[in-house]
Amino acid sequence: MNLPIRPRRNRKSPVIRDLVRETELTPRHLIYPLFLQEGDENTPIEAMPGCQRWCVADLVKEAGAAHALGVPAVVLFPRIPDELKTRGAEECHNDDGLVPRAVRALKKAHPSLAVITDVALDPYNSDGHDGLVSDDGRILNDETVAVLCQQALCHARAGADIVSPSDMMDGRVGALRAALDSAGFSGVSIMSYTAKYASAYYGPFRGALDSAPKAGDKKTYQMDPANAREALREAALDEAEGADILMVKPAGPYLDIIAKLRAATTLPIAAYQVSGEYLMIKAGAASGWLDEDKVALESLLGIRRAGADMILTYFAKRVAERMAE
Ligand code: PBG
Repeated sequence: MNLPIRPRRNRKSPVIRDLVRETELTPRHLIYPLFLQEGDENTPIEAMPGCQRWCVADLVKEAGAAHALGVPAVVLFPRIPDELKTRGAEECHNDDGLVPRAVRALKKAHPSLAVITDVALDPYNSDGHDGLVSDDGRILNDETVAVLCQQALCHARAGADIVSPSDMMDGRVGALRAALDSAGFSGVSIMSYTAKYASAYYGPFRGALDSAPKAGDKKTYQMDPANAREALREAALDEAEGADILMVKPAGPYLDIIAKLRAATTLPIAAYQVSGEYLMIKAGAASGWLDEDKVALESLLGIRRAGADMILTYFAKRVAERMAE
């Protein structure tokens, strides 16, 4: 054949492929979500093979191991004992609560590790919703935002580097920024769940924390999976309200949203490869038909290629271990 243009020349050997590679995935792009619980034992999470709910002492060890492999940050999700869950979610701003104690322990043991906290009421709320629920079952926006501000301040006092509102209430980024700034925490960053969809992929996570809504669903605050323009609207608001990082969640089924946000803002973009995405790869690997490490890497590379600067993934430590080998 008379073919002057042969794209295969750029794939002919490992070094050439290295030279022309467009996307990089390294441990520094990964954020490790960790579950924690009271007591001094760890509990394996049935629906998320390889994940545990850690006691604080072992959480510190696990985070340190990931950090030593180059993972820059962790994000914390607490399992709150049922007796501490209330309709007002007051435990979320208890300075002696599980999350602030864990943040202090992590920052003391690993000062260079970035500690991110989740700002939302669902682990603390007896109704299992991210917001306060009225007597007639509505999710109360403005009342919830006031509690989220108290929660974020509690995390900031404990030493959190970044607070991360995952609740999807309107106006919470601006309110959190103002509350943090007026309390002297202008250095605490906000990573906003900007486009968080009402997704069925969160199932294993809700099992891990026993945080599923007691009634109804989350569709009046989390976004409709059918919508993309609406994500741009949320992004414009979060940026104007002072968010430092915008997040898309879930990641794999929403690569188009990641790409659209990447094009629409100069802010860093995070993407959350959620529990259901993790479980699907784990289950596929357990069937013997998928290579877990290769599929995990490819899924993360795809999320980076779509435009995510950083990825929250339960594979963070494992992937970093493989890269170190
Ligand atoms: C709730 C929250 C959820 C996740 C992170 N924060 C679940 C939900 O919105 O119901 C899901 C994460 C995952 O599935 O891995 N604030």
